[in-house]
Amino acid sequence: MRQKLAAGNWKMNGTLADLDEVETLLTDHPDPASEMLLCLPATLIHSAAQRFGNRPIAFGGQDCRAEDSGAFTGDISAPMLADAGASHVILGHSERRTGYDEHNTLVRAKARAAMNAGLVAIICVGESLEDREAENTLDLIAGQMSGSIPDTATGENLVLAYEPIWAIGTGLTPTMDQIAEVHDYMRERLERRFGAGVGRSVRLLYGGSVKPSNAAEIFDVPNVDGALVGGASLKAADFGGILAALDASPAEGG
Ligand code: PGA
Repeated sequence: MRQKLAAGNWKMNGTLADLDEVETLLTDHPDPASEMLLCLPATLIHSAAQRFGNRPIAFGGQDCRAEDSGAFTGDISAPMLADAGASHVILGHSERRTGYDEHNTLVRAKARAAMNAGLVAIICVGESLEDREAENTLDLIAGQMSGSIPDTATGENLVLAYEPIWAIGTGLTPTMDQIAEVHDYMRERLERRFGAGVGRSVRLLYGGSVKPSNAAEIFDVPNVDGALVGGASLKAADFGGILAALDASPAEGG
């Protein structure tokens, strides 16, 4: 059985004072059935891990370097994230694929580094509006999956997030049929590449304008094991609403 995962991505938002939102979230949801994760700015991970270390929440980074150390001014490595208290890291987010020209090979190298450091790699894939309109969505996802996911992936060290670029931060979401088509396809490809055991154990998240008002119908879609939430993860009430919808969603066989 795959455990549901409610993952937040704070992006470049938040200072120490904003960790009070995490306190509120945990006060409102002291015992969630789903796994709860916030991928914070790197500057906040250590403080968050110290403050909430014994509570039912995990923290992650939003990117890492593929190398473990060296002369890479400004960059942060996977072992550094782990040392700060992170257990997960988002890799290949579309804001990095497009804004920093991160290609599949680089995402794969970063994912390998993350897994070697004991982190769960949350690898993001997703199509642009042009790709969708040209009916290239599934081919593009296939290429991103085979190019970005290392051969050493397992249900424990990999989470895959489907994030259509045109749905991120826009308020637009795909239809439930569109989400189902991509998630079923991702599941099938994972099973074909890694075998049924691993393929069925990797959790598949949907991301892109998830909010409390649309979470329940998204979580009803088969092969949606949770969400990667940007804007709505910044406020405890919104993220808590999404978490509650996930907790109440039907269990999916592993
Ligand atoms: P959004 O972002 O929820 O604000 O659309 C999702 C993401 O970028 O992970």
